Amino acid sequence: MTRTRRVTIRDVAVRAGVSVATVSRVLGGDYPVLPATRNKVMRAVRELDYVPNAHARALSASLPGAVAIVVNSVAVPYYAYIAQGVEEQAALEGRLSLICTTGGDTGRELAIMQMMREQRAEAVILVGSVIVDEEYRQRMAEYAHSLDAAGSRLVLCGRPPLGEGVPALVVGFDNTGGAYAVTAHLLSAGHRRILYLGLRPGHSTSDSRVAGYRRALADYGVPADPALEVKADFSRESGYAALSRRLAEGPPDFTAIFAGNDLVAAGAIQALREHGLRVPDDISIVGYDDVPPAADLGLTTVHLPHDELGRAAVRLALAREPAGPITLGTHIVVRDSVRPVTP
Ligand code: ADE
Repeated sequence: MTRTRRVTIRDVAVRAGVSVATVSRVLGGDYPVLPATRNKVMRAVRELDYVPNAHARALSASLPGAVAIVVNSVAVPYYAYIAQGVEEQAALEGRLSLICTTGGDTGRELAIMQMMREQRAEAVILVGSVIVDEEYRQRMAEYAHSLDAAGSRLVLCGRPPLGEGVPALVVGFDNTGGAYAVTAHLLSAGHRRILYLGLRPGHSTSDSRVAGYRRALADYGVPADPALEVKADFSRESGYAALSRRLAEGPPDFTAIFAGNDLVAAGAIQALREHGLRVPDDISIVGYDDVPPAADLGLTTVHLPHDELGRAAVRLALAREPAGPITLGTHIVVRDSVRPVTP
């Protein structure tokens, strides 16, 4: 089998009767070129079906750099929906988007950051909740300074700001407000014993959701009961396991559940079913995020503007919006998983 030789920029120059530098200028679009010369070059490009070497062009810095989004996993709806917004906005802005996953491994995250610097990505968007400690702050500050020095921008999406002097942009959403509203929805239906399923002390998203839950209880004059705050991480399995353990201890001492996110709610609903408890007749439940399977379960939840988060992150990175932190709103979506408490 014979392989055809790859057409090079030299072939284009020979066919157009110009120098390699002139072809490069026409393709780069960064120097003035006579229209007749441009036409000759573009005709040669078409006739030879020449595909410029993307890597070489990116290095020449004449092409806009890619926008990278870094997430734990693309199999988790929360990340997938934000990535979709990033991809759509990047495409609108004529940028290639790169989706990178870390599996929560900081070594992998560091390797990705280094690769993105080498690739001259125009922006790197880090998504998702984190445990905010000194190690995290230092790691993020190093990324931000190193990208800044390479002419790139770091955007934290759904994460808290890093503070003064760190060149990172921030786009988030009103986690606490959403948690307050959905807890108030349960309280208005007469629930007073509301189990919060998803406690993760130090975890930025969980902490702000718990804060909204506690504030709503306080505003309704309901004392917070630490025994009603149950640990679980943001997965279906964790919600299922945590609630199964709780139900195995005895009949529920709560009438409603506020699950840390919709996946936790899905796991909790399975645990309730296995214990013969019906939603919402026996136990009411609400979630957070408004991602599948919330609608299929008829779950009342808090809608996150995932798509707009991703879009705003790209716009911010490409400096189309003010550089201060952006906080997007959240709102409740009422479905069929809450019943009023009957005396
Ligand atoms: N919802 C909000 N933050 C999340 C995260 N980090 N993982 C999964 N779901 C989430």
